[in-house]
Amino acid sequence: MRHIVVIAHAPSPNTRRLKDAVMRGIAHPDIEAVEGRWVAPLEATADDVLSADAVILGTTENLGSMSGALKDFFDRSYYELLDHTDALPFAFYIRAGRDGTGTRRGIESITGGLRWKSVYEPLVCQGAFDPVFEEQCEELGLTIAAGVEAGLF
Ligand SMILES: Cc1cc2nc3c(=O)[nH]c(=O)nc-3n(C[C@H](O)[C@H](O)[C@H](O)COP(=O)(O)O)c2cc1C
Repeated sequence: MRHIVVIAHAPSPNTRRLKDAVMRGIAHPDIEAVEGRWVAPLEATADDVLSADAVILGTTENLGSMSGALKDFFDRSYYELLDHTDALPFAFYIRAGRDGTGTRRGIESITGGLRWKSVYEPLVCQGAFDPVFEEQCEELGLTIAAGVEAGLF
């Protein structure tokens, strides 16, 4: 079995829907040899990433940047991950009421520092909540799982 860790902040019903959609994508019946595990960012540790074959990050945009919870995860684990997770495949989605660019920049800056490998165009679920966001998150989860299963990354 290969493993995807989903470190996603999901503080509202809509953001829980997005996280659940990502997990549904990973658990798609066509995917047989990959399993996903969701960890809330405040609970996540460096070991969760070190033991994973790929990472999916999820966050709200709050006050122009990623959630404090996701930032806290990186604050706690950055130096444990640095030099041990080079080229780790990752993807991320952002739930933003209005914007999303500051959060995207912040995540790209941190993951660039860690030298992780982006394997999916960042997904920004922006504006009023739209059920299509769930489809997009499910597709994200499925695509990453299929890529991990096929050894594409
Ligand atoms: C304190 C606070 C700050 C926020 N700041 C931003 C922001 O800077 N940019 C943005 O696009 N959305 C912002 N939002 C909107 C949140 O991103 C959005 O409410 C959150 O992703 C939850 O989505 P939902 O309302 O669909 O559950 C903010 C929300 C709160 C409560």
